[in-house]
Amino acid sequence: MSAHRREFLVRTGQGLLLAGVLAPGGGAAAAAKADRAKADKKQAKGEEDVAPPEDLMREHGVLDRVMLIYEECGRRIEAHRPFPVETLASAADIVRRFIEQYHEKLEEDHLFPRFEKANKLTGLVATLRRQHQAGHGLTATILKLAAPGGPAADADRQKLVETMRLFNRMYRPHAAREDTVLFPALRSVVPPKEFEAMGDAFEDQEHQLFGKAGFEGVVVQVAKLEETLGIEALDQFTPGA
Ligand SMILES: [Fe+2]
Ligand SMILES: [Fe+2]
Repeated sequence: MSAHRREFLVRTGQGLLLAGVLAPGGGAAAAAKADRAKADKKQAKGEEDVAPPEDLMREHGVLDRVMLIYEECGRRIEAHRPFPVETLASAADIVRRFIEQYHEKLEEDHLFPRFEKANKLTGLVATLRRQHQAGHGLTATILKLAAPGGPAADADRQKLVETMRLFNRMYRPHAAREDTVLFPALRSVVPPKEFEAMGDAFEDQEHQLFGKAGFEGVVVQVAKLEETLGIEALDQFTPGA
């Protein structure tokens, strides 16, 4: 920090102190006390403070693991090997409930309008919106073809493989663009106080829809689906392991 800036901060701080803003019991102290009380309350409820981009990025991790399940099912269908159709149906159901009705809804309700209002990244946001819609159609098809009994006709099996491929082909770059371009720009369109409130709103919505276990509970569900396919051990993906 330059001497000039340090001097400015000292003078500004002194000015605030004189104005009573930083004085004990003043606005800043009261705000800090309120923040501490809020943090204590969250801790007591077993919740943690997660910033909106981190929250959304780890939800992309769930999506990534579902795409691995799609890939494995597709591989087995193409090799004419049996696959547990109920695993695929459960994976697509997680996409519907957790990705479409929760994660994408958060993006559409809380993120996209901020960028549109600020006239920033509007082309990207328009594409992301279109891809959410396209994704819903692909998931509907996967769910239909993964009904009990599974796709019997060859044409249906091929359609299922192709739909899962289209899903992965779109969502990998979709999530990567959000992680590397949209989410890092979020702070530029949301003031710090509202940024924090946004994180709280995400947390509330998560527990309202997915109970106390929230995100962690969904991760457990995905891990169980991986087990039914024998793809749960991470080390099997290490070359030479
Ligand atoms: Fe998205
Ligand atoms: Fe996303």
